[in-house]
Amino acid sequence: MVIRFSPFLCYLIGMEKRKLGQSGMYVSAIGLGTWGIGGPPFWSQREETTSVATIQRAVDLGVNLIDTAPAYGFGLSEELVGRAIATRRDEVVIATKCGLRWKGASLKDIYKDLSPGSICQEVEDSLRRLKTDRIDLYQVHWPDQKTPVESFMTSLALLKAQGKILNIGVSNFDTAMAQKAAQYAPVVSIQPKYNLLEREIESNLLPYCQQNQVSALVYSPLASGMLTGKYSADTLLTDWRGKGNMGIFNKDIFPAAMAKVEKLKRFAEERNTPLAHLALRWVLSRPGVTCALVGCNSPEQVEQNVAAMEMSFSPGEMESLTALVS
Ligand SMILES: NC(=O)c1ccc[n+]([C@@H]2O[C@H](COP(=O)([O-])OP(=O)(O)OC[C@H]3O[C@@H](n4cnc5c(N)ncnc54)[C@H](OP(=O)(O)O)[C@@H]3O)[C@@H](O)[C@H]2O)c1
Repeated sequence: MVIRFSPFLCYLIGMEKRKLGQSGMYVSAIGLGTWGIGGPPFWSQREETTSVATIQRAVDLGVNLIDTAPAYGFGLSEELVGRAIATRRDEVVIATKCGLRWKGASLKDIYKDLSPGSICQEVEDSLRRLKTDRIDLYQVHWPDQKTPVESFMTSLALLKAQGKILNIGVSNFDTAMAQKAAQYAPVVSIQPKYNLLEREIESNLLPYCQQNQVSALVYSPLASGMLTGKYSADTLLTDWRGKGNMGIFNKDIFPAAMAKVEKLKRFAEERNTPLAHLALRWVLSRPGVTCALVGCNSPEQVEQNVAAMEMSFSPGEMESLTALVS
């Protein structure tokens, strides 16, 4: 059974907040992902006023975790976040990242660098773009094979001691790397990919998070839009997804994923519920998950996604949904 709460009741209660690891901070169950609003080279160009309004709408609706990164639009995403929250800095938990740099304007110009000098430069650039004096959560975007874990964790611990960052997180780390990182400084969160179609982290990383009170802030909970049900096998996408060589949009796995989406669409239709809501509630009810970082590109998308908090599953329904994608 799908249970629906009245929007007015949800408004009164406010967005559900969950502990951010052992940081003492609380973050909204739905976090705002701002990769898309960065635009090129990954995504298509966006209207900046719409992007700022998107961020502000999210904060209005109780979303307090905003995830960004220097590599999103090569600084543009961070700048838009800074602009949008300039007068309400204390209402939000800003999560940004380090370790992905660029030397030109295209995708192939992006490279990994977690060397101490690079991290020092990156944090100053992020603080300037975000127009803030501290970053609430500073995450290693991707591991860098060239820099030892001890080196970049020591750099991050130093930034924390200086008060430039308040907490350390990691992203795209496997369990062994996360464990190793935690030997050098406290890690409050891990940011992996997780959704109904991509469940690799269930066997290892999510149990690790649960056992160690580390928050899993999961990205692509809608499988980068596929789990909204709005695409078909014939949809022509003009951004990174249309290249057919990345993630779930890789042409080798895309057809099987779309076949699962068709089954999920029927399941959602039978319950008169948007597929995106089912996808978000499913992720948020999985053990070990703290937050779903949803990529929204308009105030309307924010409103539609936040409304997922107005519904809930019975345990039986949850099992049926999981069985459908197992
Ligand atoms: N750490 C990492 O390496 C990493 C990697 C990926 C993402 N992330 C983070 O996670 C966030 C979310 O990831 P994501 O953008 O891949 O995926 P997502 O949240 O699974 O999907 C976002 C896409 O779904 C569509 N969408 C969202 N709400 C919708 C609605 N209500 N109706 C219709 N379509 C809707 C939009 O597609 P359209 O473009 O068609 O509007 C949007 O681009 C990112 O913004 C970023 O902060 C981190």
